[in-house]
Amino acid sequence: MKNKISIIGAGMTGSTTAHWLAEREIADLVLVDILEGMPQGKALDLQEALPVIGKDIKVIGSNDYLLTADSDIVIITAGLPRKPGMSRDDLLFTNAEIVRYAVMETVKSSPNAIFIVLTNPLDAMAYLTLKVSQVSPNRVIGQAGILDSARMRAFIAMELNVSVENIHCYVLGGHGDEMVPLTRASNVAGIPLENILPQDKLAAIVDRTRKGGGEIVSLLKTGSAFYAPAVSVAQMAEAILKDKHLIVPASAYLDGQYGLKDIFFGVPVQLGRNGVEKIFEYELTDAEKSALSSSAQGVAENIAKLR
Ligand code: APR
Repeated sequence: MKNKISIIGAGMTGSTTAHWLAEREIADLVLVDILEGMPQGKALDLQEALPVIGKDIKVIGSNDYLLTADSDIVIITAGLPRKPGMSRDDLLFTNAEIVRYAVMETVKSSPNAIFIVLTNPLDAMAYLTLKVSQVSPNRVIGQAGILDSARMRAFIAMELNVSVENIHCYVLGGHGDEMVPLTRASNVAGIPLENILPQDKLAAIVDRTRKGGGEIVSLLKTGSAFYAPAVSVAQMAEAILKDKHLIVPASAYLDGQYGLKDIFFGVPVQLGRNGVEKIFEYELTDAEKSALSSSAQGVAENIAKLR
C-alpha cells in the first residue's frame, strides 16, 4: 500500500517540501491551502514534472481538508513567515490560530498520522499541535535541528573547503537566536571543531548559525527561508516512512530529559515508523547546560502565552 503525506500550507516551504518529497518517491502527496486554485495549480505543475524524473506518485492540491484522510504523515507549514526585523516569536498568536485549525481538521480523518511541524515559532507550534491533536507525544515532531545544523555545516564547509559530507554538527535547543550549536560534539571527519578552526572563526560560525534564519529574511525581504527548511522536513518524513531509526536533532516533547518537562525542545531524536523512538541525552558541560536552560526559558514563555 502506498504511503500518503499531506502538507498543510502550500506556500514556499510547503510546495518546496512537496518537491523534495516527490524526488524521493516515498508517498502520494496532498497539498492543502486556503488560497483558491493555488494548491491545485502547484500540485498539477509538480505532477507534470514527474515524467521527466521518472517518479510515479500522485500529487493532489485542494482547499478542502477532506482529501487528507488517512495520511501517514501530516506536515504543518501553514502560517505567516517573518518579515525583516521580526523575530519568530512575533508570529505566535497569528500562527497559533492557523495551526490549531489545521491540526483539528487533519487529525479528525488521520488519527494515526505523525505530525511534522514547520510553522514558527516552531517549538510552541509543535506543543500546540500535540495539545490540539491529543495524539501520543512520539507522534509530533518539530523540524528545526536538521536545518540549524545544516546551516552550521554549510558555513564550516565554506570556511574549510571540505565536503559537507565530512561535517557533522549538532544544534540543540529552541529554534530561536538562543539555539545552542554544540561545538564540542560537532566535528569534521572525527576531528573536533575546536581543533580544526581558530576560536574566533568558530565563534563567528556559531553566531551566524544562530541568526541564520534572520540572515535569509533580511536578504529576501518578503518571506523566509524555504529550500533548507523544506529538505529537512523531507529527510524526517523519509526516515519515518522507511523506519530508518535515523538520529537527528529535532524538536520533541520532553518529559524530564535534559531536566525539562512539558515542553518541545531541540534534542537528538531517533526517528522511525512510530515517530520519535528515542531521545538521546548528551553529557553536557555547565556552560552548555546554562545555554540550553536560557533557550528553554524562551520556549517556555511562548508556550505559557498559549495556555
Ligand atoms: N490553512 C491552510 N493554509 C493556510 C492557512 C490555513 N488556515 N492559513 C494560511 N495558509 C497558507 C497561506 O495561504 C500560504 O500559502 O500558508 C501558506 C504559507 O506560505 P508562505 O506565506 O509562503 O510561508 P512559508 O515560507 O511557507 O512559511 C510558512 O513555515 O518556516 C515557517 O516561519 C515560517 O511560519 C512560517 C511557515
